Amino acid sequence: MLLHVLGTAAGGGIPQWNCACPGCSGARAHPERRRRHASLAVRTGEGRWYLVNATPDIGDQIEAHPALHPGPGPRQTPVAGVVLTDAELDHTLGIARLREADGLEIHATPPVHRALEERLRLGDVLRPYTRLTWQDLPRHGTRTLPGGGPGSGLRISAVPVSTKRPRYAADAPEDDAWVVALRLYDPATGKSALYAPAVAEWSDTLHRVAAEADCVIVDGTFWDEEEPRRTGISSRTATGMGHLPIDGPDGTARILATLPARRLYTHLNNTNPLVDPAAAQHKRLARLGIEVADDEMVIEL
Ligand code: MLT
Ligand code: MN
Ligand code: ZN
Repeated sequence: MLLHVLGTAAGGGIPQWNCACPGCSGARAHPERRRRHASLAVRTGEGRWYLVNATPDIGDQIEAHPALHPGPGPRQTPVAGVVLTDAELDHTLGIARLREADGLEIHATPPVHRALEERLRLGDVLRPYTRLTWQDLPRHGTRTLPGGGPGSGLRISAVPVSTKRPRYAADAPEDDAWVVALRLYDPATGKSALYAPAVAEWSDTLHRVAAEADCVIVDGTFWDEEEPRRTGISSRTATGMGHLPIDGPDGTARILATLPARRLYTHLNNTNPLVDPAAAQHKRLARLGIEVADDEMVIEL
C-alpha cells in the first residue's frame, strides 16, 4: 500500500489567511513550516489514486505530487475519485475544484452524502460541469476501491468516530456516521492503515482497528483540552469541538503509545504548539515513538 500525505493542517491551514497567532506568523516567516489542509492520496493500482478528503488546497496538492499529474492523454488523470471522512468544509470544498473532470466518484456515508447534496447542493451546482457518482460508504462492512487491474484494489471500511455535524448542517438529523475513520486494507499484502483526522471518541471498535493496523494517522488538532479556550479561538474545549486532544488523561498519546503500528498525528490546528518544529512537545511524542506527519510524506506498507 502506498500513501502520500497531501496535507496535515486543520481547517484554515497554516498559515490561516486572517490569523496572526504565533503558529501562523511563524509559518509566514519560515515557509518550511507551512501546512496544507489535511488529506491523503491512496494508490489502489498502477496509475490509479483516490484522494481521502478534498480540501481547498486540492489544486496545489495535486501539483505537488507528480504521481497525481495528468497524462499521457491530454485530460487523462490518475485521480479516480474521492473518499470522504466527513462533510466539513475543510474536507469537501475541493470537490468543486475538481469540476473539470468528466466525472467524479465520491465515497461517503449517508449523512455526509445528504449534507453535500441537500445543504451545499453540490449535485445541483456541479451538474452543468461534471457528473458526480456517489458510492455508499457503509457504517458496517467493507467496500472495494477498484485498482483497475487484476490483483489490485484496496478494501475500505468506515468506523464511526463522532456524531458532530458541520456547522452548516447543525440542525440535520443525528447520525453516528457524520464523522468516520477509514480503515484501508490491501488484500495483496495483508497490510492495513487507519486514517482518522477527526476523533471525538476512542471507541472499542476504533481501538481494535488501530491495534491491528500497520500504520495509524490520527487527529492531532489540539495538543491539550484547554488549547482552544487558552488561545482565544473558541469558547469550547478540544473535546467540545469534536477533537480528542493529544495530551492529558483523555488524550490520544497515551493510547497511541501502546499500539504496535507506526503512529502519526495529522490535522494540526494553527494553535497547536507542534506547528513549531522546535517545540518541546515533539520530544515528548518522540519518546513515545509517535511522529507528526509532514506534508509530502510518503508511507509505504
Ligand atoms: C473540524 O475539524 O472540527 C472542522 O473542520 C472545524 C471547522 O472548520 O468548522
Ligand atoms: Mn477539520
Ligand atoms: Zn493562526
